[in-house]
Amino acid sequence: DKANYRHFMAKEIHEQPEVVGHTLARYVDMATERVTLPVKLPFDFKDIQRVSITACGTASYAGFIGRYWLERFARLPVELDVASEFRYREAPLRKGDLAIFISQSGETADTLAALRYAKAQGAHTLSVVNVPTSTIARESEIVLQTVAGPEIGVASTKAFTCQLMVLASLAVAAGRARGELSDADEAKLVHGLVEIPRLMSEALTIEPQIEKLARELSKSRDVLYLGRGTSYPLALEGALKLKEISYIHAEGYAAGELKHGPIALIDEHMPVVVIAPYDKVFEKTVSNMQEVAARGGKIILMTDAKGAAEATIQSLVTIVMPDMGAAFAPIVYAVPVQLLAYHTAVVMGTDVDQPRNLAKSVTVE
Ligand code: M6R
Repeated sequence: DKANYRHFMAKEIHEQPEVVGHTLARYVDMATERVTLPVKLPFDFKDIQRVSITACGTASYAGFIGRYWLERFARLPVELDVASEFRYREAPLRKGDLAIFISQSGETADTLAALRYAKAQGAHTLSVVNVPTSTIARESEIVLQTVAGPEIGVASTKAFTCQLMVLASLAVAAGRARGELSDADEAKLVHGLVEIPRLMSEALTIEPQIEKLARELSKSRDVLYLGRGTSYPLALEGALKLKEISYIHAEGYAAGELKHGPIALIDEHMPVVVIAPYDKVFEKTVSNMQEVAARGGKIILMTDAKGAAEATIQSLVTIVMPDMGAAFAPIVYAVPVQLLAYHTAVVMGTDVDQPRNLAKSVTVE
């Protein structure tokens, strides 16, 4: 039931601090500040040479962010593909490689086919799934469950942030096992993870501002989302979310790709959502914003207080997020991204929970 919410999607967005917290509790020992996976892995991360991550839609963007973490914390090379491509591109997996699959439903046809392919190649198969009785969960060697609870809205929200929580924990565990992270590094990262539910609650308080902004956004025909580093996959996710529920055309781009084409689209009718926590690449993103502003593009900047103070560009709106370490920012920044899509769709009067042409679980290819 929707509790007091107008849509399941709203309820599920608001449940995130709680369910991300439940997921966290399953993967992290708060007392010792260490990651403790709830299953014993049938391999040693030291022996893994390559990882592939495969999923569809929003789950693939979670995987995209997971790739940054696995590469950074565990120095593991990661290949990433959408399942519909992976299953047919004949990726040369080697015996003993690790193949990760991510799926809320655990029934997505392409992801399941990709899993079967990887298994046949002799790879270890690890799935991050929300439905523990699903086909993908049953057929995987290792299952890491997201504890998001049932997700009813077709637009994935809480499953996404729980997937990120699991992938972050896995990356830290891999970094430890491979000797890339010290005790102190791990404690620092776990500390960052433990903070996330509270930061998500804080981010939810920005809702009235986003609701107002959504009225503006609903007048646009196209919207561009930009981000760098782990904010880049979140830009892709933001664009997907807006498209699927409001039917406004949106595209996500790596901020650095702007001048390689999409900048030609910028004018006063094209809002640009820039996701830019104050991190190592912030200054670079600011210069991309300057390029947008110089062409009359309206900017919606999602950043923190430091970022807001540093970015001296006249932006349409700045959404000031709580201060946090940069490592896991996308888990928290997912909140305003989801809220913006949600409220825009509400203004447009679409069927938010059951958008046209879409199914919650895509069991045919
Ligand atoms: O159940 P799955 O996670 O495998 O589903 C994958 C995609 O179909 C799904 O994330 C889809 O992109 C959502 N509608 C996005 O909100």
